[in-house]
Amino acid sequence: MVKIGVARETLPGERRVALVADSVKRLVAKGHTVFVESGAGQEAFVSNAAYQGVGAEIVANFSDLVSQAEVIVKVRPPSTLELDALKEGQVVVGMLQPLTHLDMVSALQNRGVTSFSLDALPRISRAQSMDVLSSQATVSGYRAVVVGTCYLPKLFPLLMTAAGTITPARVLILGVGVAGLQAIATAKRLGAQVQAFDTRPAVKEQVESLGASFLTLPLTVAAAETAGGYARQLDEDIEAQERDLLKDPVAAADVIITTAMVPGARAPQLISESMVQAMKPGSVIVDLAAESGGNCALTRPGNQWISPGGVLIEGSIDVPSQVPAHASQLYGHNIQEFLSLLFQVGVHQTDSGTLDWTLDQDEIIQTTCITHAHRIVHSATLERSHA
Ligand code: NAI
Repeated sequence: MVKIGVARETLPGERRVALVADSVKRLVAKGHTVFVESGAGQEAFVSNAAYQGVGAEIVANFSDLVSQAEVIVKVRPPSTLELDALKEGQVVVGMLQPLTHLDMVSALQNRGVTSFSLDALPRISRAQSMDVLSSQATVSGYRAVVVGTCYLPKLFPLLMTAAGTITPARVLILGVGVAGLQAIATAKRLGAQVQAFDTRPAVKEQVESLGASFLTLPLTVAAAETAGGYARQLDEDIEAQERDLLKDPVAAADVIITTAMVPGARAPQLISESMVQAMKPGSVIVDLAAESGGNCALTRPGNQWISPGGVLIEGSIDVPSQVPAHASQLYGHNIQEFLSLLFQVGVHQTDSGTLDWTLDQDEIIQTTCITHAHRIVHSATLERSHA
């Protein structure tokens, strides 16, 4: 049975926790021991007492956690101080974003830490219950619309009242992956008129099944989708063509939620400065791609500002953290499912009581493993680290 440690997140503004009490309860019921760094769940409204109530032990700080636990679970990549505290043979599981945190990867490699990054999970049916990108994108898509409603100086639904008729707000969703679909569903529930666009034509049916209209743009994308189901990065000229085709729908929108992303690449720029200038004062852009550079040329990642033409542009990079209770509940379930698989097929206790690893027997374990035994085993990370 494995000793698991739940770390307190240290990144400013990060309010999620890697396991909530319910997930801890399930792991304890399977015979594992869970240690929780004091206050780890505080920002997500899970108290130390709630963890103790399901059988976890509270420890004072991160160094106590690493001295007790074999597997440390986190939301964000470990900080420099946390990396320094990790021991040889220890395991870290989280959303490590290895491609953009190469220094962290080499620290994990040098220290002999075995690390798993759930943002590298294969998008296969069997992995859905562990899919942190989907669970957190669901939260972001919902939250983006709620933020849009808060700042828009108009109501969303059609209202016919004695004081007159209010026409529905026009919401445009650019990028229809998991976050985009949730944004469409949320904006529809609030009564807006919703249009959406994605370079992958396969999503048209999903958009229409949610009651929104799909913008059919004559964009000349040869193969919009990779074998893994992700969008391809567009050439500069095609991206410019897309911006040109989006000019009118962007100018007509009251709220735009942008979610367009291409894994491992900068976010495509879909809204130029002149397109923002053409929007109505009071309109709102919520750019969920802000962390990858933004889909709007005027997005300021991590900040909100109002353009000279009166368009509010929201570039938060911690959107799931703004809903920490439910974001942590879903994330914790993903982690718990991953650990269950890992302990079932990836790790064995040796006679001397240490952990022994089998990393190549399962596609999910193999694909998510970033470092092991002083090696970088994740091929894309290895390639980037040699670039
Ligand atoms: P993502 O966060 O990587 O990208 C969001 C959306 O932006 C995607 O739909 C993408 O096509 C779109 N996009 C990229 N460039 C664009 C551009 N220039 N203009 C307009 N839109 C653009 O995507 P996410 O949410 O991670 O989903 C990626 C794929 O994985 C989807 O096909 C999704 O259905 C699939 N998926 C499969 C799962 C499974 O277990 N089978 C689970 C979750 C997602």
